[in-house]
Amino acid sequence: MKVSVKVPATTANLGPGFDCLGLALPIYNTVTVEETVLPGTGIEINIIDETNEMDFISIPTDENNIVYKAIELLYNSIGQEPAELKITINTHIPVTRGLGSSASVVVGGLIAANELLGRPADEAALLSIASEIEGHPDNVSPAILGGFVFSSLEDDGSVVYRKLNWPKHWNITVCIPDFELATGIARSVIPSEIPIKDAIFNLKRSAMLIEAVNTEDENLMKLALNDKLHQPYREKLIPGMKEIKESLQHEENVLGVVLSGAGPSLLVISHGNNLDKIKNIVSRCWLDLNVKSDILTLPVEQNGAVIIE
Ligand code: HSE
Repeated sequence: MKVSVKVPATTANLGPGFDCLGLALPIYNTVTVEETVLPGTGIEINIIDETNEMDFISIPTDENNIVYKAIELLYNSIGQEPAELKITINTHIPVTRGLGSSASVVVGGLIAANELLGRPADEAALLSIASEIEGHPDNVSPAILGGFVFSSLEDDGSVVYRKLNWPKHWNITVCIPDFELATGIARSVIPSEIPIKDAIFNLKRSAMLIEAVNTEDENLMKLALNDKLHQPYREKLIPGMKEIKESLQHEENVLGVVLSGAGPSLLVISHGNNLDKIKNIVSRCWLDLNVKSDILTLPVEQNGAVIIE
């Protein structure tokens, strides 16, 4: 028996919501998990890279693969060990660009394996396992649920989460540069302790953001899309980020420019029709630094992971 699951890309943080806000985007990876019939064949992991840019050397295809590790945790949670499994990963989501590619394959593997096992885990249990593997829940939650999601990984490993409405007329423009930034590196530059005034700054912005989204308040959203917890530290790792933010700061209809997850992709949140102008500004700023980019305006994907066969 085999199960294939299609999982959307995700963008996390949205500025002040470090490690707790995320939304799903319509770019997809597919994970297929198959119980192989012959005992003793062990684990086989195949990656089909539709992005043509994956560094295969850095991706383990044995028991250290994160998809396998997630599946192993699921089996262990019901007192079993995975034995003969063939895992096939089809990737369309650009890797190490802050678009939730690892979250998507973890979620895909877990949902497929859960189906093969007769669905022992519910949504909350799957979220908890996926967050344990990822270390934070803000990508895996919208990957499972779709849409705009708030989530919190609690000390006992459970995840508190709610799906919220994203205003339909607020555009998300994803700006993907041609360089990579590993999440581990982007997390390592954030200090382990931060000044209380910066914590208060982000508390206020997160509260503003939720209210702005709920009431579609664009002025409040402009204030909300600021952050002092992670972006100021990460900015030095992302050539062009400062210039792009400054160039778009006074552009009509732009509500804010934030890092997508740990970066290096940037997210421009806007309303109205000046999307081509926004795209040109971003692409020109990066070209000045010899950085090529893909810039896509995408709707929020309201569906999370789906079983396709
Ligand atoms: N919240 C995480 C971070 C997302 O910013 O490090 C990583 O994709």
